[in-house]
Amino acid sequence: MGRLEGQVAIITGGARGIGAGVCKVFCEEGATVALWDVLDGKATAEEIRATGGKIFFQKVDVTNKEEIQKAVDYIKEQHGRIDILINNAGIIRDRSFTKMSDDEWNAVINVNLNGLYHVTKAVVPQMKEAGYGRIVSASSINALLGAFGQTNYAATKAAIIGFTKSLAREVGKNGVTVNAVAPGFIKTAMTDSMPETVIKAGIQQIPVRRIGTPEDIAYAYLYLASKEAGFVNGELLNVNGGIIS
Ligand SMILES: NC(=O)c1ccc[n+]([C@@H]2O[C@H](COP(=O)([O-])OP(=O)(O)OC[C@H]3O[C@@H](n4cnc5c(N)ncnc54)[C@H](O)[C@@H]3O)[C@@H](O)[C@H]2O)c1
Repeated sequence: MGRLEGQVAIITGGARGIGAGVCKVFCEEGATVALWDVLDGKATAEEIRATGGKIFFQKVDVTNKEEIQKAVDYIKEQHGRIDILINNAGIIRDRSFTKMSDDEWNAVINVNLNGLYHVTKAVVPQMKEAGYGRIVSASSINALLGAFGQTNYAATKAAIIGFTKSLAREVGKNGVTVNAVAPGFIKTAMTDSMPETVIKAGIQQIPVRRIGTPEDIAYAYLYLASKEAGFVNGELLNVNGGIIS
């Protein structure tokens, strides 16, 4: 029996990259997964369904409160519960600080931080009522290290750590745990656009000498989303091959 058998999970930004890896692993573990994305996630969902996964795609922009509420209402109606929320959706708009436009700053704050706020806000009441929930959000190694051109992105990913630790203190008594994962250098569309030489140099800085995969991160989410992690709350789990801990 899978570790998430009988449970219902929302995974934001699940159409590709790390999110798609999380959808796949959670389905393998028996969860019913609601894949949320602004992109069309039908193909990802179809692929996972073909291997026996219980997954459905909902076109949800995490910055749109109405879309979020409709999607949550549908899940409650169809499945009666939401056990797990993975706040994975995120964007980058990299630019050195002096050149960064207000639009680039605001877009990243809006999706990475306000989006996480709206989605979590819509899901927490039902988790509290049920007396059980697992919320895990995507921070980043760059929240801790900083990165050239990422003042906007790093600010949101650091904010997610404070958000996580604070909400954990509020809802722990209701059986709801709140944690975050800080991925390191992971092979996805976000990193595919980087020049080969930059990637090679990056790998030399990683003690395990390889780039991470979406599955590396998905298994960290799986642990924090499991019943067995019930005493882990307000934690940031670094998954970066050993660059920092
Ligand atoms: N790839 C890495 O090396 C890395 C490192 C650290 C942290 N992260 C974080 O992990 C998460 C996933 O990253 P990834 O590399 O898989 O990125 P990705 O760009 O491949 O996937 C992100 C997904 O989020 C979706 N998304 C963007 N805006 C959205 C919105 N408004 N509403 C709903 N969905 C939206 C995108 O459409 C996409 O499917 C992000 O939060 C990212 O910041 C990634």
